[in-house]
Amino acid sequence: MEIVELIRKKRDGYTLSTPEIDWLIQQYTRDEIPDYQTSAWAMAVFWRGMDARETSDLTLAMARSGEELHARDIISPVVDKHSTGGVGDKVTLAVAPLVAACGVAVGKMTGRGLGHTGGTVDKLESVRGFRSSLTREEFTGILSSHHIVLAGQSHDLAPADGKMYALRDVTGTIESIPLIAASIMSKKLAVGASHLLLHVKVGSGAFMKTLEQARALAGTMVTIGRLAGLHTVAAITSMEQPLGCAVGNALEMVEAIAILRGEGPQDVSELCYHEASELLVMTGSARSLSEAETRVEQAIRSGAAVAKLAEVIAAQSGDARQIEHPELLPAAPVRVMLSTPRSGYISAIEAEQVGRTSMRLGAGRFKKGEQIDHRTGFVLQAKVGDYRTAGDPLVEIHARSQSEADSVRESLLACYTWSDAPVSVPPLLLDTIRPA
Ligand code: URA
Repeated sequence: MEIVELIRKKRDGYTLSTPEIDWLIQQYTRDEIPDYQTSAWAMAVFWRGMDARETSDLTLAMARSGEELHARDIISPVVDKHSTGGVGDKVTLAVAPLVAACGVAVGKMTGRGLGHTGGTVDKLESVRGFRSSLTREEFTGILSSHHIVLAGQSHDLAPADGKMYALRDVTGTIESIPLIAASIMSKKLAVGASHLLLHVKVGSGAFMKTLEQARALAGTMVTIGRLAGLHTVAAITSMEQPLGCAVGNALEMVEAIAILRGEGPQDVSELCYHEASELLVMTGSARSLSEAETRVEQAIRSGAAVAKLAEVIAAQSGDARQIEHPELLPAAPVRVMLSTPRSGYISAIEAEQVGRTSMRLGAGRFKKGEQIDHRTGFVLQAKVGDYRTAGDPLVEIHARSQSEADSVRESLLACYTWSDAPVSVPPLLLDTIRPA
């Protein structure tokens, strides 16, 4: 087979056969197909799409590109949780330890930041020494002894996704339903959990801008899960404004710790507690949502939830003292408070623009493999629906230098829309897609 033929075939709107998709993924994983040809192919998929059979073939080929862990053979039930990506989305960082503290094991392979959205691995790596790249033995060992493991893509596990993900990040090929579905579900199948909760984000800060697109992506992934024997539920949640208050890697770690202590912002905390409860019910570990909610509340109140985060950080070579004392996490040298420009109610905070502006401070990547600065980002002082008087604190900028902080002021202010009349706040949880 010739890669250029497969690029042309997809470019011209034809479907690729199962052997063609298998070959492409195998060759790309072995570095036999260069990045430039794979990006041309990804762009062709972006425009032409893939049918259900091709998407499922792509997912399976990527899942099999490395080792498969069969986590549910090690411990069962074992849950996995994944978000399609958003701004300020630290839900996984809180839900994973919360669920594990409630007695249900979590085996998760997670990603880096993609485009304007943050990634759980990048956030975890703001903790000194934390290792996300684990061998099969390490993954299974940590899961068996700690009942929680948070791994990134490695050479061993779904390596095709690791390579493709970094490539898509810098070639304008992220927002494609088949490519996102295959990227996420290949990681999930390679881990082999028994239950999976997906967060499909929709809105200005998400890759899916409409509810219709989000439902299509959720449906595609739930179907792939069902066919592969992975009990999958997808929650569709709003990403019209950043989730919680912190945007940026270490800043989001701090907020996740606050959520686990019961001290986080209300919107994101409620979502995390709900998702953790949903997972307890899904696995049969709680008989009802209210029983699950009580267990989640106990795990927060007793300190078990935050202790579980510290435990997994230590198990993966990270400095757990930074979880017990979040003030020890890396902090930017410059902090500048941006003031509210006019009195009124906040009617919108354009999440994608907030994410892109944080990238300019170093919190995200413009080039493949670029180093990020874990310390930078923003802490929002008010959310949609809040009233602010001119001059009130609006956003705290965490930057490497005064000039970088100054350079983002205008774009940050442009993310806000104001209203003189009170504004109602739409719900975060918009729909839940369950297997048919
Ligand atoms: N998250 C992933 O893991 N992959 C994508 O393509 C998008 C979000």
